[in-house]
Amino acid sequence: MKNVNTANVENLKSAKTSPNAKNLANPKIAKNAKNPAKNPAKNPAKNLANPPSIENPQNPSNNPKNPTNPQTAENPTNTPNLDSISAKTPYFTFDNIALYKGDVLDKSNFKRGFFDLGITSPPYNLGIEYGSNNDEISYEEYLKFSQKWLQNCYFWAKDRARFCLNIPLDKNKGGQQSIGADLTNIAKCVGWRYHSTIIWNEGNISRRTAWGSWLSASAPYVIAPVEIIVVLYKNEWRRGRGQNDITKEEFMAWTNGLWSFNGESKKHIGHPAPFPRELPRRCVKLFSFVGDVVFDPFSGSGTSILEASLNARKAVGLEIDSGYCELSKKRIQDWGNVLKIT
Ligand SMILES: C[S@@+](CC[C@H](N)C(=O)[O-])C[C@H]1O[C@@H](n2cnc3c(N)ncnc32)[C@H](O)[C@@H]1O
Repeated sequence: MKNVNTANVENLKSAKTSPNAKNLANPKIAKNAKNPAKNPAKNPAKNLANPPSIENPQNPSNNPKNPTNPQTAENPTNTPNLDSISAKTPYFTFDNIALYKGDVLDKSNFKRGFFDLGITSPPYNLGIEYGSNNDEISYEEYLKFSQKWLQNCYFWAKDRARFCLNIPLDKNKGGQQSIGADLTNIAKCVGWRYHSTIIWNEGNISRRTAWGSWLSASAPYVIAPVEIIVVLYKNEWRRGRGQNDITKEEFMAWTNGLWSFNGESKKHIGHPAPFPRELPRRCVKLFSFVGDVVFDPFSGSGTSILEASLNARKAVGLEIDSGYCELSKKRIQDWGNVLKIT
């Protein structure tokens, strides 16, 4: 495992979180939910005029150690009770985050129906060198593996839970495969309902590995430099009422299902396939309420759980590799230290 370096902390420190998210982390604002004049979430103009931020340590709602923040153990009414979700001991807990080391194929990891929103990127079976799993199995075996873990996640999902599944559209390494379509179909077969597909135009990544037949119609290769986020749900799409923290601008931009932002640097994070933080951030704010439980069954370097926590959700991760569990712990602790120091 590679260590997280100072540059990572600096990056985390300078990253912006939504002003609304931070305001909604303040119970006083939640109390005023019906009064737009007092509630910045209902009055974005007012909220944006006074944006609290990670860089603004004066604002207590930015600090997960502050008792006014519902993310902390000191506030039992809003604090997640993550103790009840598993009979197992977490690898690591920090405020509203619990990371478990384990295999997604083991159904006994968690109790039935504990999460509101799943966000994940499973191994793509592209021969990536993860610490503990073989990422180069036959396509048939890979589909069987996918079926089992999608089934387990369905069991662990609450009724009306959503699931954002980040996978490639196509795969050409080891033979052309419609991996996006195949996994979507398997998800539907195990019970998930299909809502929509977001196309992620990953600006800084080239998926091209070969031309096939150069300048010839003989056997050219075509590959789109995009990934997809398949949006699924359990039983019902509509969730009813809850505390929102998305701005008008974010809502309008992100409900357009073509997302364009860069991928994350593997070297920078110290993991072979990390999410850019923007991906879970958008999914968290668009598809979950403040205080919901967000779960990543392939947690890797902990990007989803970090982002969920920073946006005042409860966060649960599962990761098979102890090196990546340790990396996540370090990354999350670094965040905590940044917030403590500033
Ligand atoms: C594509 S990466 C996820 C990266 C993550 N989104 C991030 O931002 O770092 C897939 C992760 O799944 C883990 N993994 C592979 N097989 C697993 C299994 N059976 N159970 C749990 N985790 C597994 C790998 O170790 C790897 O860290």
